[in-house]
Amino acid sequence: MSEEKTNQQWGGRFNEPTDAFVARFTASVQFDQRMYKQDIQGSVAHAKMLTKVGVLTEAECADILQGLSEIEADIESGNFEWSIELEDVHMNIEAALTKKIGITGKKLHTGRSRNDQVATDIRLYVRDEIDNVLAEISRLQQGIVGLARQEADTVMPGFTHLQTAQPVTFGHHLMAWFEMLSRDYERFVDCRKRVNILPLGAAALAGTTYPIDRHMTTELLGFTAPTENSLDSVSDRDFAIEFCAASSVLMMHMTRYSEELVMWASAQFNFINLPDRFCTGSSIMPQKKNPDVPELVRGKSGRVYGHLMSLLTLMKSQPLAYNKDNQEDKEPLFDAIDTVKGCLRAFADMVPAIEAKRDNMREAALRGFSTATDLADYVVRKGIPFRDAHEIVGKAVAYGIQQNKDLGEMSLEELQQFSGQIGEDVFDVLTLDGSVSARDHIGGTAPNQVRLACDRAEQMLSQRS
Ligand code: ARG
Repeated sequence: MSEEKTNQQWGGRFNEPTDAFVARFTASVQFDQRMYKQDIQGSVAHAKMLTKVGVLTEAECADILQGLSEIEADIESGNFEWSIELEDVHMNIEAALTKKIGITGKKLHTGRSRNDQVATDIRLYVRDEIDNVLAEISRLQQGIVGLARQEADTVMPGFTHLQTAQPVTFGHHLMAWFEMLSRDYERFVDCRKRVNILPLGAAALAGTTYPIDRHMTTELLGFTAPTENSLDSVSDRDFAIEFCAASSVLMMHMTRYSEELVMWASAQFNFINLPDRFCTGSSIMPQKKNPDVPELVRGKSGRVYGHLMSLLTLMKSQPLAYNKDNQEDKEPLFDAIDTVKGCLRAFADMVPAIEAKRDNMREAALRGFSTATDLADYVVRKGIPFRDAHEIVGKAVAYGIQQNKDLGEMSLEELQQFSGQIGEDVFDVLTLDGSVSARDHIGGTAPNQVRLACDRAEQMLSQRS
């Protein structure tokens, strides 16, 4: 990055050049250059609009569009020299345009300020990235449904307090993840609605004296409407905060999947195998295969939550309208975007490759008295009030702990010590398959219901644009 002259674009009223450190300290081009495409897109629309309202001639517009398209190609091919002295992406591109096409380049900024320009660029950028995030959430959800369908009949222990509670199907467990992601998807869709409003035309803060047509730029840039108030347009970054809030909730969900995968992959649970390509080894312990992907996703949640806090704090107490503080919105926002996309990508690639160790899951469900509630429900069906049934089964469990026997392993005589109402048919409910199949209603864990939930999920995914 070059560092030649300073303040060439606004230095008219200054008596000395900017201090070299201050130039670097106040510059944003190191990180906002990633918005070059959106900056050019915004400038193209602005130039076309200025031409339509008679501020630029057709010939001037043609030169500007030609120059901007060459600049885009230069940037893409790595032939563009970014300069710290030109502060940000906006002034770098504008200066390059003037260098290319001469004096006409200096007319592009008519009726516009970097304040509405940057607000426009960020909105375009976030809009594009929301679309990428949405596509990646859908891909992950697709993988989850596929695995859930495959594991609709696989029985595992369901937990509350991380203690064995009742048997569930692995497919049902996975579809719980799917539901969380559906809400995340909706949060991003909702956030996009408020991102997709055009601030361009607000100029520095008060609007402009040129006869601009904001509806035209709105349409050219694919926004739904122009913003209503120029002061608000250049100042608020609530849409970026919303993006980070939606991202934080998504990351929180991903830490939950991660935590479960890490536990399940351990020798103690031994419920799943994560393919080697998603794991790494240890440099000292030859036996190790570490679930790095979920661990890292779990860890990366911290930076996204942090970015949400940064942006909230950045915006806090800012008087209207634009303040330089807002330049600090980009690094947290960009890192949140990169982190969320990276985590989603890793998960979307990994989830379909998870191998369920079905026998181990089943074996674990057989331990820990997971069918105790089923036994209580059975006794209730024999005419005993639920509270008494609870007591009866509690005693049976205490006996089981003492004898080291699960309920399904006891003989009828053993079970009848606790209630004379227990008959031979009790063994139908004490089996794992009987237990899960009995929960056969919408939202229940029965394999049949899991398959129906997968059908609805696939139908829903196919309707997403
Ligand atoms: N680089 C600035 C930012 O990111 C652009 C807007 C600067 N406006 C100004 N008047 N200094 O916010």
